[in-house]
Amino acid sequence: MPRLGRRRFTTLAAAGVLGLAQLRARAFHQAVAQTGLKDAFKDDFLIGTAVDGRTIDDPSTPLAQLVAREFNAITPTNLMKWGPLEPREGEPQWAGPDRLVAFGAAHGMTVVGHTLVWHSQTPRWLFVDEQNAPVSKERLLKRIETRIRTLVGRYQGRVAIWDVVNEAIDEDEKGWRQSPFLNIAGPEYVERAFQIAHEADPKATLLYNDYNEHNPGRRRFLVDVIRDYKRRGVPIHGVGFQGHVGLEYPDFAEYEKSLQAIAAEGLPVHITELDVDVLPRASGYTGAEISTNFELSERLNPWKTGLPPEIDARLTARYRQLFELFLKYRQTIARVSTWGTFDGESWKNNFPVRGRTNYPLLFDRELKPKAAHAGLIALKAR
Ligand code: G3I
Repeated sequence: MPRLGRRRFTTLAAAGVLGLAQLRARAFHQAVAQTGLKDAFKDDFLIGTAVDGRTIDDPSTPLAQLVAREFNAITPTNLMKWGPLEPREGEPQWAGPDRLVAFGAAHGMTVVGHTLVWHSQTPRWLFVDEQNAPVSKERLLKRIETRIRTLVGRYQGRVAIWDVVNEAIDEDEKGWRQSPFLNIAGPEYVERAFQIAHEADPKATLLYNDYNEHNPGRRRFLVDVIRDYKRRGVPIHGVGFQGHVGLEYPDFAEYEKSLQAIAAEGLPVHITELDVDVLPRASGYTGAEISTNFELSERLNPWKTGLPPEIDARLTARYRQLFELFLKYRQTIARVSTWGTFDGESWKNNFPVRGRTNYPLLFDRELKPKAAHAGLIALKAR
């Protein structure tokens, strides 16, 4: 908890101006305004965010300063993914990731690497050979090994946590996700990734990261994988729950069961990509271009000029409910990171429908803290 200026508020309380509890809460708010969420939750878990190259390129911008004040962990949104990092084989583009790691170090932050192996945002050359024929299993595993040794090795001791494998479990709960990685290399690519990452930096924390973590089928499969890995000595050190939630989903009881299930396996959970979608569900309209369809635009993108107070209040309540749950499991949860810092940069403005105005984060489009931010601070002030 930040320093509270004890002498000043006991004097005011003694004068009967405000109750002691009220004063303590007010002082806490003032102290946090100068420090940030990271300080409010410093006895509970790390508080992180995901940043773009632009955010950290110039550390003097208001956004970079906000990130430094509020958060003690950072994850690159795209910079370390395989496609953006290595568009041509053997020619990694280090400038962006180097700056990000340096920014984290300069601010004493925990830097999270995202993500070593993921079926999305892969470079064109990854799954084919020189003749454009599917690459062999051996060659794919070798490419995975080279990437991990190069990337994890470069930042050994500076990137403390890696999302080693991302979203490798199937959407329909039947096991591993169908992907070129699985089709070419079989499920062994997942454990190889963990083994190589561990060799490249034995001190790094290695996570498996995925979404829809409340889903019972996924939970069962993941627990089986963890048990199998632990039995065979595959180095998995924690699980990332992405935490892309909405005002009405997921089912919190199921979400809690998943937290309990991972805790029961003795692994920490990292909430890796938290955001709260406030817009109408649009699952049937994936990929729709709503700007050309007035009726659809009105229905799916209703708050283009600002969030109505009643929805903002629901967002605030949702964040509080989430953090109440996280605090309940503070022995298990090592970190809570939002996926982006302010509403204007969120991927949720373009997914599952492009070009909407969404409000999923804790800072608004002018970088001002939203009521949800104050709500979280208030949780710690009581
Ligand atoms: O870099 C190009 C740029 O050159 C081009 O002009 C522009 C035109 O659209 O596209 C830019 O690339 C975009 C990239 O973000 C950087 O902004 C891609 O099109 C876009 O698809 C990509 O989206 C990212 C998405 O992953 C890809 O699946 C989001 O920024 C990123 O927030 C999102 O993050 C993922 C996590 O890694 C894993 N979990 C889910 C999460 C949300 O999808």
